[in-house]
Amino acid sequence: MVVRVFPSILEAARDASKEAADVIRRALDSRGEACIVAATGNSQLEFLRQLRQQPGINWERITFFHLDEFVGLGPEHPGSFATYLKEHIVERFQPGHFYFINSLAKPHDECVRLSQLIRNKTVDLAFTGIGDNGHLGFNEPPADFTVEEPFLVVSLQHATRLQQLRTGNFKRLEEVPQQAITMSVPQIMRSKQILTLVMGEHKQEAARNCLEGAVSPRCPASVLRRHPRNTWYLDSSASALLQGTVVGSKRPNDAD
Ligand code: GLP
Repeated sequence: MVVRVFPSILEAARDASKEAADVIRRALDSRGEACIVAATGNSQLEFLRQLRQQPGINWERITFFHLDEFVGLGPEHPGSFATYLKEHIVERFQPGHFYFINSLAKPHDECVRLSQLIRNKTVDLAFTGIGDNGHLGFNEPPADFTVEEPFLVVSLQHATRLQQLRTGNFKRLEEVPQQAITMSVPQIMRSKQILTLVMGEHKQEAARNCLEGAVSPRCPASVLRRHPRNTWYLDSSASALLQGTVVGSKRPNDAD
């Protein structure tokens, strides 16, 4: 794992987009296509803007998978992740294919469908963020680090539903769904490379817990420290509580 800290979101996003573009170009050179897992959230916004400026990528050759979504929230709802992904990825990049999670389908059947779609795919790159409670995708604590299925139905914690209420996309807490579909932790970890973007003061504690606490299901995104190719991009405010993290290089006890 590599942790990189930048004075501003803009600078972090610029470097993250360069790393993403290098990975995508390499996949296109070797296989003629690339497959990416896409997250949502504020931490991704500037990164996605910068990524669109990167030259030499034929986006028609790219397939995206949707990382996580609320159960039962229609794709037109402002809080649905499909709305975000359409605006910030589909309309902007016009990729060859985007596999959306169908939030209105029967959740278990939808997981089976998505799991079949991704099972034999090489995923070159995953964009991830972390939740205020350390969740990864919507894998809430305690997360299952060993489950076989690539997609799961999960119950959302109160803290996560409050985080969603704060986005302003829901009027009341009761409107925030209680369940979600998420890519599982083992499936996220099968991505060849993972970029983790964490921006803003409100992520300070989550960043410290994930990077400096134990690697444990109680802090789901801490599992990323076991991935051989994972880079964290933080702005200085998100990194403010880090003490033991060696910025810009690998931690001695992590996978290399
Ligand atoms: C939600 C999503 C996560 C995402 C997180 C990031 O919680 N379920 O998949 O990683 O938001 O939030 P932000 O980008 O605002 O830091």
